[in-house]
Amino acid sequence: MTGPNRRMVLAGALAAMASPSAATQAPMTLRAAATTLRLLSDNAPETPVWAYGGGIPGPEIRLTQGDRMVRRFANDLPQGSSVHWHGVRLPNAMDGVAGVTQPVVASGQDFLYDFVVPDAGTYWYHPHNKTYEQMARGLYGPLIIDEPTPPVVDRDLTLMLDDWRLARDGTIAEDFGMMHDLSHAGRIGNWVTVNGAPELKTKAGRNARLRLRLINAANARIFTLGMQGLEGWVVALDGMPLEQPTPAERIIVAPAQRVDLIVDLTGDTEGVLYSVERGGSYAVATFSVSGNARAGRLRSSGTLSPNPMPDFAPLPQARVIDLPMMGGAMGRMQGARLKGKDLSIRDLVRAGMVWSLAGTAGMPEQPLATLDRGETVSIRITNDTAWPHAMHLHGHHFRETGPDRAPGPWRDTLLVNRGETRQITFVADNPGDWLLHCHMLEHAASGMMTWLRVS
Ligand code: C2O
Ligand code: CU
Repeated sequence: MTGPNRRMVLAGALAAMASPSAATQAPMTLRAAATTLRLLSDNAPETPVWAYGGGIPGPEIRLTQGDRMVRRFANDLPQGSSVHWHGVRLPNAMDGVAGVTQPVVASGQDFLYDFVVPDAGTYWYHPHNKTYEQMARGLYGPLIIDEPTPPVVDRDLTLMLDDWRLARDGTIAEDFGMMHDLSHAGRIGNWVTVNGAPELKTKAGRNARLRLRLINAANARIFTLGMQGLEGWVVALDGMPLEQPTPAERIIVAPAQRVDLIVDLTGDTEGVLYSVERGGSYAVATFSVSGNARAGRLRSSGTLSPNPMPDFAPLPQARVIDLPMMGGAMGRMQGARLKGKDLSIRDLVRAGMVWSLAGTAGMPEQPLATLDRGETVSIRITNDTAWPHAMHLHGHHFRETGPDRAPGPWRDTLLVNRGETRQITFVADNPGDWLLHCHMLEHAASGMMTWLRVS
């Protein structure tokens, strides 16, 4: 007699647990703490890391477009921290930039993040305080927002790429922010991981359709990927669906960027996603064929439902803000402003500030520009340095524009190579103070950081 009733009660309890009425329940906790994990191969020593929820990557936060994201961030690190929800168009107070949009969350303290996720797609979270150290120690995790009607695939996999600078005993080299990394390419590691392991290995049926969500969580390494036995399309960049999916061939994923692929496993025995480097290439993910998923491969990717982006019609008279980038090794910078003072290059180096944006090194006291809410603005970025930079704008997505080109896809991070001038255009529709910085984290820490105010 108790059987069915009991089951009904249980079902009711489960339904209540799954209901999105987060407001009436204690929020889930996202805890950052030191722990030890195995990053090197099986018999090698473990690595002391800092991690969210005890894992690397941190727990996948999975929601549906329009849901509320509610997490109590608990900081058990020996250092102040915060959580930035990279690429999410959220209210400024939830952007997680310590010292700008919120006070730093001191060791032992917590902070409640609570916002609606307006866009579907592949996003991620990471600290925004001493980011170059905290991310190098392992703090990052995926934030996946499902479309209300997701495309039909056999597997939907997130691949978080990272590189680590490890010593033979498995420990992380603690030379964070060393001058050579600051002034050159940033901290490039010696050990690459995918979801915290040397490689992703899994099985799938022949012609299985896979959605692969690539996220580059490395401090500074640019990944160039190729595929064998996998065929398909790039369907989204930095979370935002492409209007026209493009065939997936060479895929460049700069720090903080995301690329969503829809591919079919067409290889006879396996499909491999590999990273191409100067010294050769190595597998990042291997899909072994087991059985048949379907008789033949599918012909098109379909398209993802669009996100509610602002109308995009850049006017010829739209304001253009110049953003010359200078500095770094082999650069031409003679000096820059730092905290309101003009300094020579020697004094800048002494202060550990070796890059400038629009003539200023580090966070300027005044914004690069104050924008009217709803205004369409262009930023012309000129890379007058000897290095590539992954420029990231908070709170908005932009499109690349130029005199003779159709507007590019929506992105939140743009790779600007040495010597290039690239123009991005966006609608400043999100009020608040928003960072614009290089996501090579050592560059950001040593000068490549500015901000915009949307009033
Ligand atoms: Cu992914 Cu300012 O950050
Ligand atoms: Cu840079």
